Amino acid sequence: MKKRYVYLNNAATTYPKPEAVEQAVLKSIREIPQNVHRGGLFFQDKMDDYRKRIAKFLGVRNYKRLFFTSGSTEAINLIMKGYDLCRRHIVVTATEHNSVLRPLHHRLRIHMSDAAVVPCDETGYVSPDDIRKAIQPETALIVINHCSNVTGTVQDIAEIAAIAREYGVKLLVDASQSVGNVKINIDKDGIDMLAFTGHKSLFGTTGTGGIYIKEDISVIPLKTGGTGYKSRELEYPRESPYIYEAGTQNYIGIASMAAGVGFIKKETLEKIQEHKKRLVSMFIEEFKGNPAIKLYHSETKSSYSLVSFNIENIEAEEAAFILANSFSILVRGGLHCAPLIHKYLGSEPHGTIRVSPGYFTTAEEMKQLIEAVYKLIDYGKKQD
Ligand SMILES: Cc1ncc(COP(=O)(O)O)c(C=O)c1O
Repeated sequence: MKKRYVYLNNAATTYPKPEAVEQAVLKSIREIPQNVHRGGLFFQDKMDDYRKRIAKFLGVRNYKRLFFTSGSTEAINLIMKGYDLCRRHIVVTATEHNSVLRPLHHRLRIHMSDAAVVPCDETGYVSPDDIRKAIQPETALIVINHCSNVTGTVQDIAEIAAIAREYGVKLLVDASQSVGNVKINIDKDGIDMLAFTGHKSLFGTTGTGGIYIKEDISVIPLKTGGTGYKSRELEYPRESPYIYEAGTQNYIGIASMAAGVGFIKKETLEKIQEHKKRLVSMFIEEFKGNPAIKLYHSETKSSYSLVSFNIENIEAEEAAFILANSFSILVRGGLHCAPLIHKYLGSEPHGTIRVSPGYFTTAEEMKQLIEAVYKLIDYGKKQD
């Protein structure tokens, strides 16, 4: 397929999707009449197979505790609105996305709760020790964005999980930017709950994702309804996976996610990471030390899947607008749905320009971006 523009917004959603994903979507549309009959063996086997494949990729032994949702937003809402509502304190970090901050706001208002927002450094890194200091006897939950969607900084998740265990507090990881991007091993790292999305680095279609919830954790379901199971009973089934999967599921999307996982395994995560790192590093090496460019980047903690920056005298959204309209280069400018981090990065009030290449981005496309950014630097100088 010929691209009409340079797409550098893969942190929002990956594009294009691999051929294997396209084929899986097509195949599952053709097979849907067999799928929707919930009691059917075909459906059960297929869904179990997808669940097992994705669970294995995430390092989960008990695949039955992996539930499909419409994405990270639904997964996080499920936990925020249904986990341990009696304890009234939550620990979050300044790097959180609005998919955490808004359900948190709801919980604070409805349950008269309180939250501690743990700060980050100027690259978005959160010190595990600061999380430790924020825990109180009433803390129900620690929520952490594993990989910042603004800076690409990756948190020390195993260390944070160990701290949570030490204090008997459960940990919810927002892995929207990390699943399929950096290595995750839920069981090994001791993660209690993990929300993930299918349409970013897993290469699935939009409206896909899921939540892992450890066996010993009980959460009030966000939705109840038909399951095709125990239909005579008004009481909603408590068995997995029905408990958190009311209604007709997004079979096509789930199939696309499973195919995305297959694609990553075939290509290998290391090769995909290496490719993105090479492209992101091209940009960083070019502009490091340039006084007209401010980079928001950690040399040691970055996932190297994206880079955020600003150009002197141009607001981030305006720069993204010019790149799209004058150069046909799609990046994202602004706050990136993460309003708190910018205070720590020094990028208030306008946010940053975020460039996120994908596995299908070429070095030639990065060169086009670099040339366009030089032109924007000149434009910025004229605004002085
Ligand atoms: C860090 C982070 N959390 C949550 C989300 C929301 O994910 P979803 O689109 O699957 O609801 C995003 C997506 O932009 C994200 O980057």
